[in-house]
Amino acid sequence: MKIIVTEHYEALSRRAAEIMLEVVRGKRNSVLGLATGTTPLGLYAYMIADHEKNGTDYSDIRTVNLDEYRGLPATHAQSYAYFMRKNLLDGLGIPSANTHIENGMAADAEAECARYDALLEALPRDIQLLGLGSNGHIAFNEPGTPFGAGTHVVTLAESTVRDNARLFASADEVPRQAFTMGIRHIMQAKRILLLASGANKAQAVYGMVRGAVTEQLPASVLQLHPDCILIADREAAAKL
Ligand code: GLP
Repeated sequence: MKIIVTEHYEALSRRAAEIMLEVVRGKRNSVLGLATGTTPLGLYAYMIADHEKNGTDYSDIRTVNLDEYRGLPATHAQSYAYFMRKNLLDGLGIPSANTHIENGMAADAEAECARYDALLEALPRDIQLLGLGSNGHIAFNEPGTPFGAGTHVVTLAESTVRDNARLFASADEVPRQAFTMGIRHIMQAKRILLLASGANKAQAVYGMVRGAVTEQLPASVLQLHPDCILIADREAAAKL
């Protein structure tokens, strides 16, 4: 794993943007694996600013997202589909037919997972962006998830519900389940870029980089990926 430590969040976002833009400019029909959460917001703002200023072309780019809350329609302000449109996809002018995310409202969860697995196999990602849960989760793969898992429905850990409650009116409104890309498909990406910012990620970053590779800390699997880059700000890297 290549580790880049930056002074602060702003520098982390800028460095991440350089890496993403290298991929987009290098191959006009790249497949980008994208992530939600607050950590990539700075990166996404850089990508939109670059698109506006330099006209970087996204018309043939395809995107695949990691996860979606179960039970939230794409129109819900806290759904990840809505988050992606608002914070990145609309700003880059990517045709919506080229953007993919699990359908949180799918009545047949098993069929939805199979549909998404087939899509992931058909769209090998040139780069997969990841955030990090404070408990070491990636996407919504909570501790204990088998590394071989494909797309599945997960019951969120209590700590994840607490962490994500800040984005909802109250913890009661956080959906208890989600669809998530599994670790098997995360690991299939050609390159992985994980961003970690803030002191509440320091323990998970330490475990991910220096600890044993274990399903109890899902992000530790990234030690086995041949081209994984971690960008952490000083606070997140404090225990390394
Ligand atoms: C959610 C998402 C993850 C994300 C994590 C961290 O649980 N499913 O993909 O990495 O939040 O979020 P944040 O970046 O806001 O700390």
